[in-house]
Amino acid sequence: MALFSALTLLVLAPLSALVLRIIYNVYFHPLSKFPGPWYAASFSLTDAVICLLRWEHEWLLDLTKKYAHTNMPVRIAPNVLLFPKPSTIKDIYWDAKHNTKSTLYGTGVLGPPHLFSTLDGNEHRALRKALGGPQWSFGALKNTWEPRIDSLILLFTSKLSHLAQQDQPIIICDKAAQFAADIMTMLSFSTPWGFVENQRDERHLLESWRDGLNFFGFAARFRWFRETVLKSPLLKPYLLPSAKDTRGMGYLIGQADVQITERERRIEEEGYTQDKPDYIQYALQARVNGKPLDPIQKRAHATLLIQAGADTTGTGLGNTLRFLTMNRACYDKARTEIAAAEEKGFLSTPIKYEETITHLPYFVACIKESLRVGPPGPQQLTRMCAKGGAWIGGYFIPGGTEMTSYSYVVHRDPGMYAPDPDAFRPERWLESEKKAAEMEAANFGFGVGPRVCLGKDIAYFEMYKLLPEIIRRFDLELVDEGRYLVAGGVAFNQGLAMKLMVREVN
Ligand code: HEM
Repeated sequence: MALFSALTLLVLAPLSALVLRIIYNVYFHPLSKFPGPWYAASFSLTDAVICLLRWEHEWLLDLTKKYAHTNMPVRIAPNVLLFPKPSTIKDIYWDAKHNTKSTLYGTGVLGPPHLFSTLDGNEHRALRKALGGPQWSFGALKNTWEPRIDSLILLFTSKLSHLAQQDQPIIICDKAAQFAADIMTMLSFSTPWGFVENQRDERHLLESWRDGLNFFGFAARFRWFRETVLKSPLLKPYLLPSAKDTRGMGYLIGQADVQITERERRIEEEGYTQDKPDYIQYALQARVNGKPLDPIQKRAHATLLIQAGADTTGTGLGNTLRFLTMNRACYDKARTEIAAAEEKGFLSTPIKYEETITHLPYFVACIKESLRVGPPGPQQLTRMCAKGGAWIGGYFIPGGTEMTSYSYVVHRDPGMYAPDPDAFRPERWLESEKKAAEMEAANFGFGVGPRVCLGKDIAYFEMYKLLPEIIRRFDLELVDEGRYLVAGGVAFNQGLAMKLMVREVN
């Protein structure tokens, strides 16, 4: 009898705690007035599991549609509100009061803190001042990096021509990701790692990045796990990445370590300098409050670049090729525009960034539309609502709430993109200047405000140069549209296959 009572208690106690937790979160929590499914409002584990299953982007879009009639932000986890409307972006991301990131970013799963994972807004500002700057803007890129990017484009197209002659489908998304990874290693370390030259995933960079995404997404979204398990001195060493790992994020940290150590050795022993510094040179020269970055920070920032800028841009490149080949009318229009510009002698070989901007407006619209419909980084960009709370989008948000917008959702706002928010329709960017400016302001794919993507101009630069060059040189035929996968809030493509036929270029 005593054993029966003990067993009953053992079952009933946790069950009651669970029920009480659900009742509190759904009816009495400061966010209980906001709409959202009870199972998401009760447990952050819900979103973590959905993310692990790679459904998050579709789930958040479905929730937004389901609760659209309420016009309110949607509660997607006990303490997290999703703001689906473009009109609220400015109030959340430009207000310095809310510029603290939530602990969703502070798991340590991407390695030691860097720009992206620094939570405090003031600390971030000082770091960003040291590492960002005009060297990463279009103007500087044209002078410092365009000739080197051109060489890589020529190598890339010659490798593609060779493959095209074999008359076999090419997994073009992998080739695009390899190109972007080479650009990123070149910008970071001066010498590309050879992804394009050797036609493979050098040092498993892309594989390692993708390997780490599921854990990153799960750990970040499951609040108890990130704030308890990952903070435990006992468990941390087994769960967080280490430079000694042979796979995943840890492996990337190890590779960044190799690069920084070697560069410091060269500077020390050979007096090595650079006329046109690469990214790690800037990281080594950076000063925060008059002091250089410490060894861990230097390595963390070298890791960040290969994490943030390689596969993301590769996905943007692959997505645009998919959308174009699936929408043949758009493809034909883009091709006609390139042919007309070529006929008039407006295009160099390879195409310059400025030439695309000036002479290929339709192509530019295709890229913008691809980044809208298939954002490469549909991440929860959570910010802490300031103490005392704030009025956002007509609703009072309690202080301490984690507030996020989400590009995959914001970019499909039915008001902004009526009548066809889900359609790939580049023409929408060319219909009216006023509308285009509004859509530009609603572009959330790179984040917004003081923490906007540091490599936004680099990503556009690559896309504006490589993509029209591919369409100019090859006839593309879609064989398999493959899959756009979102893991841990970052997208990549799988299995996008095309047949390429070489065209004559003047
Ligand atoms: C299409 C390609 C890319 C997309 C969609 C993308 C997207 C993003 C997003 C959404 C953020 C987070 C903003 C936030 O936390 O609020 C970010 C941050 C960042 N990105 Fe990118 N990115 C891309 C390419 C690149 C490239 C090429 C680089 C290389 C320099 C880069 C470097 C960074 C860095 C360093 C940060 C952290 C900035 C900070 O917190 O101050 N990204 N990016």
